[in-house]
Amino acid sequence: MIEDIKSLRAKVEIDLPNVKTLDDLENFRLKYLIKKGELQSLLERMKDVPKEQKKDIGIELNQVKKFIEAEFENLKERLESDSDGSLDIDLTLPGRKNFSGSLHPIQQVMDQMVSIFVKLGFSVAVGPEIEDEYHNFDAANFAPEHPARDMQDTFFIKGNSNYLLRTHTTPMQVRVMQSQKPPIRTIMPGRVYRNEAISARSLAEFHQIEGLYIDKNVTFAQLKGTMMLFAKQMYGENSKFRFRPSYFPFTEPSAEMDITCFLCSGKGCRICKYQGWLEIAGCGMVHPNMLRNSGIDPEVYTGYAFGFGIERVAMLKTGIDDIRLLYENDVRILEQF
Ligand code: DAH
Repeated sequence: MIEDIKSLRAKVEIDLPNVKTLDDLENFRLKYLIKKGELQSLLERMKDVPKEQKKDIGIELNQVKKFIEAEFENLKERLESDSDGSLDIDLTLPGRKNFSGSLHPIQQVMDQMVSIFVKLGFSVAVGPEIEDEYHNFDAANFAPEHPARDMQDTFFIKGNSNYLLRTHTTPMQVRVMQSQKPPIRTIMPGRVYRNEAISARSLAEFHQIEGLYIDKNVTFAQLKGTMMLFAKQMYGENSKFRFRPSYFPFTEPSAEMDITCFLCSGKGCRICKYQGWLEIAGCGMVHPNMLRNSGIDPEVYTGYAFGFGIERVAMLKTGIDDIRLLYENDVRILEQF
């Protein structure tokens, strides 16, 4: 019944703009408003509606009835007052609004990060999301029994466990070093996958931007300088950062970069796990094994690398405190950015 009421309203709405003369109006009346018309036939069906639905359906039907009658009266008044019985164009009507789409907040953040690094002289490279175990783990100096290689952490491709959905953008470092000669200064944005429990903070699918700089005599101070320069442009001059010593198989020494939590300004909350700080990037000096595995002589060249998570930054920028909202694609959220 509700469906029929809705479809009656839809029909009326289609017919209304075509009522341009008094004859059209009479046809409209004959179609909808007489005893044998479509409205009356719905009203008659009310007696068969189960008691508990009567109220809701009654309200709905009454609204449509009022709508049709009001539109009829309105048109009648206008057509009769018009000398030749036809409607002129009403130039005072407001125009129809055009809705235009926009880039997804994650894409906007990626574009912004990429453009800052491009200005710092980095080129951009992209590569496969289905990666082989060699590039994702072996070449990146992961030990054979490293837990990240476990099915519980990584999505392997069914039927061929040499292939997997890349768990990070770091394998792109290897691909770039295999295909370019130093000096190399490249960033590698892309989507990555991990077999994670979904929560307000993490998803099984997310984005990273990897960075790599290989040359003679590259230093940790240069890495820190670049990271700070980037972060100040991205988050503003007044944001606070810190570097913590860390461990990654593909860098030595390694560090993590934190920013003060946007939600609680450092007091401690759900998003920052009550730490006051959010980790935004891992970084370090490229491990000699990683260089060797990629065909670069670690006795001649050194380099730094970094990896930023995009979603965390998108959350910082948009103020969205549940990462799942970024993926549900509810227009009410998306149209705000
Ligand atoms: N691949 C690391 C991860 O997914 C992030 C990372 C850390 C990348 C340190 C780097 C790096 O290039 O130097 O957690």
